[in-house]
Amino acid sequence: MAQDVAIIGAGIIGLSIARRAAREGLSVVVYDRGGAGAGASNVAAGMLAPVTEAEFGNPELLELGLAAAERWPAFAAELGVPLHTAGTLIAARDRDEAEALEREHAFRDRLGLRVERLRPSAARRLEPALAPTIRLALHIPDDHSVDPRAVLAALAADVEVVQRDVASLDDVEAETVVVAAGAWSGTLADVPVRPVKGQILRLRDPTIGSHPPLLDRVLRFEGGYLVPRGDGRYVLGATVEERGFDTTVTAGGVYELLRDATELVPGISELVLEEVAAGLRPGTPGNVPIIRRDGRAVIATGHFRNGILLAPLTAERVVSELIGAPA
Ligand code: GLY
Repeated sequence: MAQDVAIIGAGIIGLSIARRAAREGLSVVVYDRGGAGAGASNVAAGMLAPVTEAEFGNPELLELGLAAAERWPAFAAELGVPLHTAGTLIAARDRDEAEALEREHAFRDRLGLRVERLRPSAARRLEPALAPTIRLALHIPDDHSVDPRAVLAALAADVEVVQRDVASLDDVEAETVVVAAGAWSGTLADVPVRPVKGQILRLRDPTIGSHPPLLDRVLRFEGGYLVPRGDGRYVLGATVEERGFDTTVTAGGVYELLRDATELVPGISELVLEEVAAGLRPGTPGNVPIIRRDGRAVIATGHFRNGILLAPLTAERVVSELIGAPA
């Protein structure tokens, strides 16, 4: 007998929807051509950062992000995955970046978001590994992070994932089909989603244990970010490239990330480089996700840079649609 719901895409969005739908008593199957967490979610750094990611002229993204961030403590606890709650610093390296950061500060301040302007000495008291040459920093105490791979593992343990390449919704028997195929969603539904490539590095401190971690907080900068896991592992990302479905890792991408990050935190040059990878963010024209019903399909895609953050909120909205409850 066909399931109530088939979900196409076993990334964090599809798996979060599957888990929540199953909890509501629906029978669910998830299809993914690469298996659970084989796409962008596996490459993602896991920043839960609505304040940092706030964009001028995009109040919808901020509202969604803040609502999603509120749901994360309970979601993480349910999955048994720790949240890294040390907050975020944004650092400027030169005068132009410092001026841009002043504007970012004023913008967030006007919106009533918690953000503190720090002189270099104050920033270095929080994060002593920062280079003395930084010009300015913002401290965003409420933007945190999580390890997406731990989240994917916890979600996949509860859900039936079938490795299958679904080419058309007509090939799926279930009563309702959820399209949560990230950057590939446009091949299954009429949605303006495009792949936006991000290259990322995974680094590890081999001497952790004999000293505190190099960084406690997430560090953002023009062109990238460094996300500490708290145990000597770091994710350094990410490029933002419009190159179609290309997922090659390039010397130039890796060089730029390391160049910028070592300028801000020289100590990272001592870390072990464990992995380089590229993922495809599902971009939309307005940088906000598309969550809507379309006949027998429910679309849940286009989460662009915020798929990890928006997963619990998306699951809530999609499952409300599936069971006919008000979101
Ligand atoms: N969420 C950060 C990125 O997409 O690179």
